[in-house]
Amino acid sequence: LVMGIDSSTQSCKVVVVDGESGRVLREGRAPHPDGTSVDPEAWWVALQRAIELAGGMADVAAWSIGGQQHGMVALDEAGRVVRDALLWNDTRSAAAAADLVSEFGADALAERTGLVPVASFTISKLRWLRDHEPANAALVAAVALPHDWLTWRLRGFGPGDAGRGAVLDELVTDRSDASGTGYWSAATGSYDRDLLVAALGHDVLVPRVLGADEFVLDADGRRVAAGAGDNAASALGVGAGVGDVVVSIGTSGTVFAVSENAVADASGIVAGFASADGHHLPLVCTLNAARVLDVTASLLGVDHDELSRLALSADPGAGGLALVPYFEGERTPNLPDATASLSGMTLASTTRENLARAAVEGLLSGLGAGLDALRAHGVPLRRVLLVGGGARSEAVQRIAPLVFGLEVEVPAPGEYVALGAAEQARRIL
Ligand code: XUL
Repeated sequence: LVMGIDSSTQSCKVVVVDGESGRVLREGRAPHPDGTSVDPEAWWVALQRAIELAGGMADVAAWSIGGQQHGMVALDEAGRVVRDALLWNDTRSAAAAADLVSEFGADALAERTGLVPVASFTISKLRWLRDHEPANAALVAAVALPHDWLTWRLRGFGPGDAGRGAVLDELVTDRSDASGTGYWSAATGSYDRDLLVAALGHDVLVPRVLGADEFVLDADGRRVAAGAGDNAASALGVGAGVGDVVVSIGTSGTVFAVSENAVADASGIVAGFASADGHHLPLVCTLNAARVLDVTASLLGVDHDELSRLALSADPGAGGLALVPYFEGERTPNLPDATASLSGMTLASTTRENLARAAVEGLLSGLGAGLDALRAHGVPLRRVLLVGGGARSEAVQRIAPLVFGLEVEVPAPGEYVALGAAEQARRIL
């Protein structure tokens, strides 16, 4: 048996899978705390609980963790977290990102790392730490991402001398998550130490980057795969091949495709990430995704089924009502301080049906712009695989092909990140 883990923004999900057939045999899940600045210890507690609910790991031969990308887990010399982790959706580092772009230039940064920093990326969070909490910044001896840190803990390492101790150079990551830091290049496969030092103010230990087929061992001798960022893990889990583009509507909205070529977009719209299988994963990420449906349903006082019914009973274009859904600022386009707005309201257009339709169309238009950006970088797009909680809405499923102008397939709902991690574990058995 193998275990696949998805440590996402909202919860930790664990699947235990038959290593030969890939069939899911057991599952467990535990919630994470809300907020964009979170004590990583809460993820560790949730992971242990989810493993317990999934029947434990005594009969598991290999495991792997997929996790929310970019979060800054800063560790001191004794392996203790220096402060709560700043997550991918924490926008306090927007000014730090802008500073890095003006110091180094968008072209040079895209060339060196495949990314132009925005608030989400780890490099911007390190710069924020240096600027706003210099005493904490000075304590940092190692920087990890959520999946790297959890892998380290589940392998038996940890703060102080508990278990196998605080052996910081046992921290490992994978290409996909390393490519979301802003100081690692998917094109060259190496860290850019100068950028790391420029961000934080001093050099620190960063996790060793494992290749797609490499593994390490846990304290009980089980094989541990490299793991992945959640988007890369879900590409594996849903079986996306070249020509497929995955549109995921979860806490974030992401549009990504497995590609043979690295992408460097100096406009910063497309992030030049790596995939979990040795290829590339150019990706566009929006901050306002499933919650656009949540907030509209709650405003209208209806559940998601009724929201969907309302949206489908309005005409395309919602009678001219347009919702630009930047409820939490936005990352693509890079407008961290933006707010949402509703326009085109007339006496005739302002109906519950049109509002529901405008929410669905507004959500999908942001993702549609992501598809256009991938296309503009020469990424072949043949079909869309629509996944994530928001993809369960019938209105989203039926309106998506109209907005995207592409064939849209909706795979059966599944824990594709955890399944992708399980697939990584199967490959190293
Ligand atoms: C991708 C991104 C989000 C997180 C969500 O760049 O920031 O999709 O990975 O967990």
